[in-house]
Amino acid sequence: MALALVRSLRQLSPDLVVVSGDVTQRARISQFRVGQRFLERIGRPCLVVPGNHDLPIHRPMHRFRRPLDAYQLYISPNTAPRYENDRMVVLGVDTTKSWRWMGGGATRRRLKRLRDDLCDLPPGRWRVLVTHHPVLPPPLRRAKPWQAAVARLARECGLHLALSGHHHRALSKVWHRGGLLVVAAGASLSSRFRTEANSYNALTLDHDRVVVQVMAWNGYGYSEARRRSFRLNAGVWMEEGPRARGRLRARR
Ligand SMILES: [Fe+2]
Repeated sequence: MALALVRSLRQLSPDLVVVSGDVTQRARISQFRVGQRFLERIGRPCLVVPGNHDLPIHRPMHRFRRPLDAYQLYISPNTAPRYENDRMVVLGVDTTKSWRWMGGGATRRRLKRLRDDLCDLPPGRWRVLVTHHPVLPPPLRRAKPWQAAVARLARECGLHLALSGHHHRALSKVWHRGGLLVVAAGASLSSRFRTEANSYNALTLDHDRVVVQVMAWNGYGYSEARRRSFRLNAGVWMEEGPRARGRLRARR
């Protein structure tokens, strides 16, 4: 399956491959090495943020004192990565927390840095946030303080998209509170908590439109299982096509 995923990504040849955390299952060195080789094989620029499974939960000394040592050694020394080209700026924020392993969240310091980065950007390019833990709260649940802070920041500083992982479920949705299009990735390879086929999201960012294709495992490789299209028109996100229902204000 891993080779098929590499093959699929190479065929797609995207500007950027975003890995929204949980490169490993138990943060073992052997698992980080496998993850490192996998990322190298893709042969495309990669932006990776750590996930909670990349913290050594079963080794308390490391978990609380040097939680991301192995991640930084094998995957990326930078836990606040940044990628930009003429059409987009992608900013990664580390949401892992040693003392809140499952829940996670961005600290004030990390959010301030994100705000500073966004406020320094000239207009005209897509602004994309990548976190492991979703900025969108689950249905009928209140936003956690860090999620509410991201929503505020998104409206004040102009953020268009938020990509995340963690829940092993592919989802794209307009988040009214933040004025954001949120896109969550399914599990591309893991078989844990499997409630749907393994998949990854292929995003196409046009001038004012974002198309999200869910590329799902079909037993032989990854192929398009479904797609949704969203347009940002005069600061308002709208879904296109028969499923259209999202509408909200967003800055660009
Ligand atoms: Fe996770």
